[in-house]
Amino acid sequence: MEKEVMILTGAGQIGMAIARRMGYGKKIILGDKKPENARAVAKIMNEAGFDVLPMEMDLSSKDSILNLIAEAKKAGRITMLVNAAGVSPSQAPIEEILKADLYGTAVLLEEVGKIIAPGGVGVTISSQSGHRMEQLSPRADEQLACTPPEELLSLEILQPENIRDTLHAYQMAKRCNEKRVMAEAVKWGKRNARINAIAPGIIVTPLALDEFNGPRGDFYKNMFANSPAGRPGTADEVANVAELLLSDKGAFITGSTFLIDGGATSNYFYGSPLSAK
Ligand SMILES: NC(=O)c1ccc[n+]([C@@H]2O[C@H](COP(=O)([O-])OP(=O)(O)OC[C@H]3O[C@@H](n4cnc5c(N)ncnc54)[C@H](O)[C@@H]3O)[C@@H](O)[C@H]2O)c1
Repeated sequence: MEKEVMILTGAGQIGMAIARRMGYGKKIILGDKKPENARAVAKIMNEAGFDVLPMEMDLSSKDSILNLIAEAKKAGRITMLVNAAGVSPSQAPIEEILKADLYGTAVLLEEVGKIIAPGGVGVTISSQSGHRMEQLSPRADEQLACTPPEELLSLEILQPENIRDTLHAYQMAKRCNEKRVMAEAVKWGKRNARINAIAPGIIVTPLALDEFNGPRGDFYKNMFANSPAGRPGTADEVANVAELLLSDKGAFITGSTFLIDGGATSNYFYGSPLSAK
């Protein structure tokens, strides 16, 4: 019997945790910019009974995304998308963050939305970070939600003079992810498919470890220490939310973003003034 296909981008801890939870019995086409990461995760998972094909894929390139989708189509009916590829503020310059996290995610959601099988479902990983940024105007929100992907990076709000630093670029990218999910949910719905976002707080992964060791390291350590949970989260806890969203139990959930941050955002807005802001 032909297997259903999961497209997985990002051979990181969060991507792997979700794929291990939801990818059993499926053919998993795994794309990552670093082929060694894709191969390493494929090896771990294949040795645990999964069926993973690792590929080199750059989320910031439309051609590369289309190539991954073409490979997935050859494998069978694409019923699931997990987008867990991305770079953090300490890992890349502004331009790269906008190109991969913002533009690339928009392209991926749109392109998979064109071919996802009826009843299919997807999840993309945004971030609590976007929830700390000030509200944007309704017009800016709509631009992030609906501008065709190829025009996104030309928006005035994303020009260098309007982006303060890499953290701001990351927050704009993650805000955009959530707005795209809302707009895409309408289109995916026409195919009887669903798409949602998960906005994690600090989850211990190589990406978060780069942040702990980067210029904002103390800020992040204070953030989780002062949060209601008092600790960082794990990729498996993110997979708990993904399991709800990607399974039939989440059948009424689409176009939504789920914040899973141990209460760090609540603390940021309404916690003690001495807490990390
Ligand atoms: N870890 C956290 O604290 C945290 C918090 C909020 C959001 N996130 C988001 O979760 C997602 C997954 O991150 P993670 O924490 O699992 O990190 P990770 O470092 O474990 O994995 C990220 C993977 O994405 C790959 N990648 C980077 N740029 C790429 C590109 N242009 N094309 C294809 N692959 C690329 C990396 O090579 C890496 O394998 C990211 O979007 C990140 O922004 C993480």
